[in-house]
Amino acid sequence: MNRILEVCKLSVSFISGNEVVQAVNNVSFDISQGDIFALVGETGCGKSVIAHAVAGLLPDNTVISGEVNYKGQDLLELSQQDLIALRGQEIGIILQNPSRALNPLYTIGHQIREPVLVHTMKTKDRASRMVTATLRKMGFFDPESEAHRYPFESSGGMNQRFVIATSTILSPDLLIADEPTTGLDHSCIADVIKEFERIKKEEHCAMILITHDLTLARTLADRIGVMYSGEIVEMGECKAVFSDTLHPYTRGLIGGLPENGCTPIPGISPPMSRRFPGCRFHPRCTERMPICGQVHPRLEVNGDRFVRCHLCHSH
Ligand SMILES: Nc1ncnc2c1ncn2[C@@H]1O[C@H](COP(=O)(O)OP(=O)(O)O)[C@@H](O)[C@H]1O
Ligand SMILES: [Mg+2]
Repeated sequence: MNRILEVCKLSVSFISGNEVVQAVNNVSFDISQGDIFALVGETGCGKSVIAHAVAGLLPDNTVISGEVNYKGQDLLELSQQDLIALRGQEIGIILQNPSRALNPLYTIGHQIREPVLVHTMKTKDRASRMVTATLRKMGFFDPESEAHRYPFESSGGMNQRFVIATSTILSPDLLIADEPTTGLDHSCIADVIKEFERIKKEEHCAMILITHDLTLARTLADRIGVMYSGEIVEMGECKAVFSDTLHPYTRGLIGGLPENGCTPIPGISPPMSRRFPGCRFHPRCTERMPICGQVHPRLEVNGDRFVRCHLCHSH
């Protein structure tokens, strides 16, 4: 197995005034070539912060520790210049908010061509031919005319596919997709899923798929990490996590799926700036035991299964 990314003990805090917000706490995971790793969890649990940390896009008021090893080099140690060279070329990024990812003033072709011009020595003509080839590969029948359109002339789903084209035109080895289907309607989501399935089959890149949509993760991911309040609480092969769920929080998320009656987990996530003893999920957990309010559980490993829960550790 060819490991592309190894995130080791990543912690991220934001400092604003005299408040410290620990958004990510001691998160580790790795991804091999051709694999999709999904990071799931409720809004605010730290998923985007991980995406930004891997991509070197965190603001200045951040304290980061741990390692983000990409093909053996720690991205946290790289200079901005080296990071910029990697980003957009070897590491493709699809950031949250597709509607803001495209510039309304430029044609689709112009924008998909941009990374080629920035990162390679190719001429505009060559780059434009790459745009056409990429769009054709993605199943657009008339790529030349697509390339001449402006974002306002296409649907949200179509534009998201153009964003994906921009992030994949240089065949990245690692693709980070942050909430790639959020805000899209059902038919568009199906198109975007098809696109990711094609990328996985044909491009063989490693992918971090960040989503609060468990169904999307289940459809696409090989492995899945479930996050709660800045921590990974359960991780393993996607199929195993769904068929033999270990953590009560994961069970709660699965119970919230439409096919399971959309039963929400009672309560809300605790604020990141307030820490309390015990498991971070215990105030909302229906299966809590006395120890859960006292001792913060460790992430225990059993083969490829990871779980942070006293209930599971006691069995
Ligand atoms: N630049 C920032 N400054 C301070 N806090 C931030 C910043 N970015 C994110 N956070 C906080 O970090 C936590 C995780 O955010 P985020 O990763 O965006 O969650 P999500 O899982 O929804 O993507 C949130 O509590 C958020 O308020
Ligand atoms: Mg997010």
